[in-house]
Amino acid sequence: MMPSSVKTLLAAETALKTVCISGWVRTRRDAKAFSFIEINDGSCLANLQVIADPELENYEQIRKLTTGSSVSVTGAMQESPGKGQKWEILATAVTLIQTAPEEYPLQKKRHTDEFLRTISHLRPRTNKYGAAFRIRSTLSYGVHRFFQERGFFHVHTPILTGSDCEGAGELFQVTALNLDQVPQKDGKTDYTADFFGKPANLTVSGQLEAEAAALALGNVYTFGPTFRAENSNTRRHAAEFWMVEPEMAFCDLFQNMAMAETFIKFLIGDALKNCADDLNLFAKFVDKRLMQELDVILSKPFVRLPYEDAVTILKQSGRNFSYDVFFGADLQTEHERFLAEDHFKQPVIVYNYPKSIKPFYMRVNDDDRTVAAMDVIVPRIGEIIGGSQREERPTVLDARMKETRVSAADLWWYRDLRRYGSVVHSGFGLGFERLIMLVTGITNIRDVIPFPRTPGAIDF
Ligand code: 4AD
Ligand code: MG
Repeated sequence: MMPSSVKTLLAAETALKTVCISGWVRTRRDAKAFSFIEINDGSCLANLQVIADPELENYEQIRKLTTGSSVSVTGAMQESPGKGQKWEILATAVTLIQTAPEEYPLQKKRHTDEFLRTISHLRPRTNKYGAAFRIRSTLSYGVHRFFQERGFFHVHTPILTGSDCEGAGELFQVTALNLDQVPQKDGKTDYTADFFGKPANLTVSGQLEAEAAALALGNVYTFGPTFRAENSNTRRHAAEFWMVEPEMAFCDLFQNMAMAETFIKFLIGDALKNCADDLNLFAKFVDKRLMQELDVILSKPFVRLPYEDAVTILKQSGRNFSYDVFFGADLQTEHERFLAEDHFKQPVIVYNYPKSIKPFYMRVNDDDRTVAAMDVIVPRIGEIIGGSQREERPTVLDARMKETRVSAADLWWYRDLRRYGSVVHSGFGLGFERLIMLVTGITNIRDVIPFPRTPGAIDF
């Protein structure tokens, strides 16, 4: 018989005479006449209760089943007299696949997030992490649904690149050279001997290639891993994270902001609708204000705030920030959180940032001191989306490349896009992990990625 999942069984309308499920023992306890086994198979938060009676031929072994053991159960569904659950299984056979030894680290008690990070290979078996990774999966599907339903095409942008889109120099270099014997020329590394004949790195963003796609297909998006060798050990930075990057032709900054707002609202609504049980766990045990916060995000239009006004608000806040605020200063997490959490108490889109702190590709505004950039800032997290209208004018782009020391020769193809039918276009990047943090209330990015990569940490 094909095994069912706990999720489908618990959702069944009527009882079935014979069912089979496989999973892992969460707990087992003996009553007078029976042994009760709680089985979880990962398909949902809930466990399924199995009742084993002494008639079973291996009853003595069943009574020794430990937490973490793997089993297969055949039996009949019956209405559960216990609270909370509709069905349980009265076992006709319990096959012990493997009995876990007593030192299984996930015995039934509360574990700290720090401890669970040291066993990333086992933590998806806990309620909290199982729920987080199921929500992550649902939202990943939601990303595709959102764009596909709106006629966007999914493009696979490269992971190995020769460019630094953000110009921040946070690149992981990739080489096939033997690092113990690096070929030299004029006292420097001879990259002509390397795999690509020039330096290469892991991408920090798929944007530049997505722009080429948008200027052919109209509306596109990429969704893939991006890499930044940013040596900041914070709760919201990872060295490897997933970014969703839509790019839209014939779209200006304000249409771009509207798309970003609709997108975030769609994904939160999607989680509330399709991950209700898992989300409830977070609302109960991780952040008691979660549902209320998500509701605020859904119910109000996001604030639109020019950067200069943000600077004024921050200056007048009376707060003692660690970083000074002035026109030309990049907004730090403390500033972003003040705006979204304390001042507006809802998401804010800050736009028109100073040209001096932004990459070469953002469109220069008529004031010549700001660019058509926008960041979506949300409570608890700060920046969740960064985007812009792109510079579509060839001469202005060339000037900006020069100013920011971006090699025009290397990006000849990007410049070409401004020669052949250049149009107004815009896009943004959503940090997928930050979205999961927003939706679940989890406060550390290490806890929303199955196997996080941060400075000094690449176990598993
Ligand atoms: O603001 P960023 O750097 O924008 C870009 O990369 C643009 N090329 C996107 C575009 O316009 N297509 O990054 C976008 C988002 C940030 O808002 C943040 O949510 C996330 O990516 N992000 C990180 N998430 C986790 N760890 C890091 N180290 C991150 N750096 C950026
Ligand atoms: Mg940014």
